[in-house]
Amino acid sequence: MKVLVTGGMGYIGSHTCVQMLEAGIEPIIVDNLFNAKEAVLGRIEALTGKAPLFYHGDIRDEAFLDSVFSAHDIAAVIHFAGLKAVGESVSKPLEYYDNNVNGSLVLARCMEKAGVKSIVFSSSATVYGDPASVPITESFPTGATTNPYGRSKYMVEQCLSDLFVAQSDWSITLLRYFNPVGAHPSGTMGEDPQGIPNNLMPFIAQVAVGRREKLSIFGDDYSTHDGTGVRDYIHVMDLADGHIAALNAVGSKAGLHIYNLGTGTGSSVLDMVEAFSAACGTSLPYEICPRRAGDIAQCWAATEKAERELGWKATRNVAEMSADTWKWQSNNPNGYTSV
Ligand code: NAD
Ligand code: UD1
Repeated sequence: MKVLVTGGMGYIGSHTCVQMLEAGIEPIIVDNLFNAKEAVLGRIEALTGKAPLFYHGDIRDEAFLDSVFSAHDIAAVIHFAGLKAVGESVSKPLEYYDNNVNGSLVLARCMEKAGVKSIVFSSSATVYGDPASVPITESFPTGATTNPYGRSKYMVEQCLSDLFVAQSDWSITLLRYFNPVGAHPSGTMGEDPQGIPNNLMPFIAQVAVGRREKLSIFGDDYSTHDGTGVRDYIHVMDLADGHIAALNAVGSKAGLHIYNLGTGTGSSVLDMVEAFSAACGTSLPYEICPRRAGDIAQCWAATEKAERELGWKATRNVAEMSADTWKWQSNNPNGYTSV
């Protein structure tokens, strides 16, 4: 089976391509390399023994995308491509709506023309906003987002849901990721953020490897077990497997399918610092700073629906997430640009 993977050179996409190749599914990658390095291709090939087909191009380029669809017998699309930096989305809203919303619309139009009616979309737990309680089930209200990035994810969910109302023979799967972290256990693939990382795990990893002096912990006065923010961190390999489970279980069934991809367990910032310190064998310097605007106290997933309907469950714990991130970061201190 051939599956078009938009954004397949990125962090989550590249790990998913490895797992797809291992499972006998052929990924056809489309990526504009805005936030990825071409070196990723060689790493995928080294791990799997197979070189995925890669098209360097933008999903907003309709003629380009049409030509990719006409060249292959594509069964489904996994749609990762997009911009994802929350802070940047506040200062560049038009770029975020153009890339994330318009890009998804162009993609859906090309799929319609090609008669490909199965899409798995990378959504985010951010669509739930500040939840009234935890764990968060898929039926919690969505839309109370606090920034253009979050709104773009919510809008694409709405567009695809409306498409299903109009054309009920589509299979539309919305996967709401919690906090993806970790790296391939080989240490050859991982997250490679450009500039100063916004997210916790890559920042901790760069402190551990000596690229940053210390971690700033954004607030220790939340009503959580130790006062720091609690999140549902999920290993990127579990997340990758979740996409394959979704493709297999519902990818060819008409319907609007919505799943949380998380572990069901919350960990605080201090829990993550402790887990990472154990993985790298040094205690990591940090300081307590004021809260970050827009942050919520705690958030973790209800995982029963995905387990029941996809037959998928995350299996890797924070010790493995930290160990694998450390292996990647220490072997590649400058990410994919390392020699
Ligand atoms: P990433 O930036 O590593 O990967 C996205 C890829 O898409 C990059 O390789 C980039 O070059 C490519 N891309 C961007 N715009 C494109 C365009 N117009 N045409 C073609 N390619 C384009 O990000 P990621 O962490 O792998 O995230 C993948 C998806 O999952 C994104 O949609 C993101 O919003 C979503 N998501 C990520 C997280 C997270 O924490 N990483 C959480 C929830 C949801
Ligand atoms: C953020 C985004 C969310 C996005 C998700 C995954 C915001 C408000 N939310 O979620 O939309 O889907 O990333 O990309 O940005 N922390 C520190 N110090 C740091 C970095 C983070 O203490 O240097 C804390 C945060 O306050 C939070 C936790 O670590 O409590 C996790 O933060 P982060 O990794 O940025 O993820 P989220 O805020 O959950």
